[in-house]
Amino acid sequence: MALPSPARARTLPWSWYWDPEVARREERLFTTSWQYVGPLEKAAEPGQFFTARCGPVPVVVVRDEMGVLRGFVNVCRHRGTPVASGEGRCGTTLQCPYHAWTYALDGSLRSAPRSGREEGFDPSRLGLLPVAVGSWGPFVFANCSPEAPSLSETLGDLPGMVAEAGLDVEGLRFRRRSHYQLAANWKIAVENYLECYHCPVAHPGFTAVMEVAPERYRLSEAPTFVSHLAPLRQRPLQTPYPLEGPVGVGSFHLIWPNLKVNVNPGQPNLSIGPVAPEGPERCSGFLDYFFADTVGDDWVESFIAFDDQVGTEDRSLVEAVQRGMRCGVLDEGHLLLDSEWLIAAFQAYVRRECGG
Ligand code: FES
Ligand SMILES: [Fe+2]
Repeated sequence: MALPSPARARTLPWSWYWDPEVARREERLFTTSWQYVGPLEKAAEPGQFFTARCGPVPVVVVRDEMGVLRGFVNVCRHRGTPVASGEGRCGTTLQCPYHAWTYALDGSLRSAPRSGREEGFDPSRLGLLPVAVGSWGPFVFANCSPEAPSLSETLGDLPGMVAEAGLDVEGLRFRRRSHYQLAANWKIAVENYLECYHCPVAHPGFTAVMEVAPERYRLSEAPTFVSHLAPLRQRPLQTPYPLEGPVGVGSFHLIWPNLKVNVNPGQPNLSIGPVAPEGPERCSGFLDYFFADTVGDDWVESFIAFDDQVGTEDRSLVEAVQRGMRCGVLDEGHLLLDSEWLIAAFQAYVRRECGG
């Protein structure tokens, strides 16, 4: 555990939660890190694709004819239209809907109507920009940076920790995506995720199931992610969903800067997804829920109802924080480092990466 110090207890300046210049500086956090983009099954076969975002950058992930998984910036080299939308099958090319520039699945520009009338038109310089893609179990990630570290370097010990929690990710199947939007800076959403100091106050359902006292609730930091481990109570106070199953511990991870990975006690389950800015004072995110094939729909429904309830409780908290920070009377806040040191670690990361 990092040593507490008065300097670490000071939060980031609250202006960082609404200043457009800070939001602009932070964009690089999302374009230089590995971002979860979707389930591998949506690009399992040649010609199958899906679209996503790495922060502000739209990307398309596609399986080419040779079976290679590829990623591109989803922006036409002509005038900037996204060449693909949604998900589905594209055959052997990606064709822009605006003027029909057509790209092979290796990204090269195959044809551009009327380009033969142009002197010096060089299609070899006008392919889709590649982005790095990789997968862990059924989860696909993309990274827009040419200097990206490997995905496995970024994931570090996380796959081992998830396996230790009793989960075989190879046995999980995508079941559902939930979207959300929040009237708050993205860092408020992340910081809310990084502490369970608020759990006894704000999440009675969660607290009825998990041990949230500081002696039992474990926080840990790795070079590229931080984790909470919440043991299941020996005698849960309520049973919001059936708790029996091979997973006995709740584990909640944040891969820098914005990717949540959640495993809850009970049947084999994992939810994963980013939260990203929609301007300085709004953010949006999604969670992709995966379960083992053996997990029945009833279990999934009752578990997701539990998870949604926690999410609803968190929404009102983070949106209220945005209003408080924004009022302009106070410049910063104060962290309790025993319970909130993962927030201090996150804020140190943001300072290091974005200056200030
Ligand atoms: S913008 Fe894509 S073909 Fe014109
Ligand atoms: Fe919460």
